[in-house]
Amino acid sequence: MNPRLSGIIDQIEDSDLRGKVKDVLENPQIIVGGNVYSGFRFEDSPAGLFRHHSYPGGLLDHTIATAKIALSLCNVVEEVYCGKVNRDLVLSGIILHDVFKTLTYRSADNDRYINSDLGERLDHLSLITSELIRRDIPIDLVHVVCAHHGGQAGPTWPRTVEALICHLADQTDSQLNGEVLRAARHLVRRVVGEEIPLISSKEAFDIVNQKTLHGLEGVEKAFMRIIKDRLPPGSYPT
Ligand SMILES: [Fe+2]
Ligand SMILES: [Fe+2]
Repeated sequence: MNPRLSGIIDQIEDSDLRGKVKDVLENPQIIVGGNVYSGFRFEDSPAGLFRHHSYPGGLLDHTIATAKIALSLCNVVEEVYCGKVNRDLVLSGIILHDVFKTLTYRSADNDRYINSDLGERLDHLSLITSELIRRDIPIDLVHVVCAHHGGQAGPTWPRTVEALICHLADQTDSQLNGEVLRAARHLVRRVVGEEIPLISSKEAFDIVNQKTLHGLEGVEKAFMRIIKDRLPPGSYPT
């Protein structure tokens, strides 16, 4: 398992819960109508088709970032508001919330992602909720996962502090990433007149930072550096 991910999983103190979460990650397939569906490895999967984290490794970045935001919110609840929060539920919910995006997306031509056959018919939230129920996961964790899109975009409102923290952390990281990807794509189109396919968060933050520091000239230099870094060693024209 990816060490960045196992570093988060290892923070789950309840060994029984930790084992159940690990088991979903190690066996991320689902059976629907007698057909077994599997997809990307977790660390290779995007977390979105276009709007946010739409690059290989996007799901891993999103999960790690969301866990860090959620843990910060746990600190606020406990240290500022003297509230109680079950961090095991929060961490488990974050790790599992988008895990079946590995099944609902697939690669397509032109460096893009599209819905898989399964993803055309069912969404990642419905899939993970039903699979967690099938695996006899405690209801409070099923609720955290089921409510992670919030009540307006999902089937239920967050009704526990843990579910609310996961929803807010998910929304925050999705928006943070989505805005920066959008800005970087816009800047690159404006300066060089083309798209960077599968632009990563790291690349997008680099482009936006270079714009802040050096204006549009900085964007062009960042673009050239990114393209060069993506080429096999020795193949870049000098
Ligand atoms: Fe989601
Ligand atoms: Fe998410």
